[in-house]
Amino acid sequence: MKKYCLGNWKMNQSLEEVKAFSKDFQESSNDLYIGIAPQAIHIPYLLENTQIFIGSQNCSEHKSGAFTGELGPQFLNELGAKFSLIGHSERRQLYKETTESCIEKIKNALSNDLLAVYCIGETLQEFEQNQTKEVLKNQLLPLLETFSINDQDNIVIAYEPVWAIGTGKVPTLDIISDVTSYIHDLCLQYKQDYSVVYGGSVKPANIKDISQIPSVQGVLVGGASLKAESFGALCRAF
Ligand code: PGA
Repeated sequence: MKKYCLGNWKMNQSLEEVKAFSKDFQESSNDLYIGIAPQAIHIPYLLENTQIFIGSQNCSEHKSGAFTGELGPQFLNELGAKFSLIGHSERRQLYKETTESCIEKIKNALSNDLLAVYCIGETLQEFEQNQTKEVLKNQLLPLLETFSINDQDNIVIAYEPVWAIGTGKVPTLDIISDVTSYIHDLCLQYKQDYSVVYGGSVKPANIKDISQIPSVQGVLVGGASLKAESFGALCRAF
């Protein structure tokens, strides 16, 4: 299966920092799909000045029209963006995005030739109450009931425990392996098998172990993707 090393810059990076990253980052996408989702205003600069895939952190479920502040997949595609994160936990928690709206966004991304990186994950409370698989199932079933084997190469599932994002806490390798295997098994029940990437405090120090888990096809990285040196080290681990 294809492997992915994806960076989510969130609302970070000044133009100077974006320029420095572009100058210093030497990797290019070939067998490994390397992607960065910067703030949307920096997409054109990165498209011109890097050899990797550039995407957005969110996209609209609507085609076009009176949706102030939204990013239309059609227009992202027009610029040359290649993917969109969808349903990141910060979008779900801070902007009240629902799984249903995420499914609509994925449909819209796919019909405009963007790879959809669908983010799922449980909160700390859900983890502690042993509800991880139930939560993931609820986030995944609407996807599996909507899409089919034909969409196989256009969707990636990002498993990101909410409690591991930006906290320095990472589930044990056994847990990551168990949960990502569960995701693959559930998809297979629907005759679909998407690449599954892990996200949440991925760093150069833990990438070797995480990248060797057979049910993990890559990583989605926040903090450690901001600097060319650390993101490059993560890419080279695959
Ligand atoms: P982090 O963020 O790597 O800084 O934990 C991951 C994410 O939000 O995708």
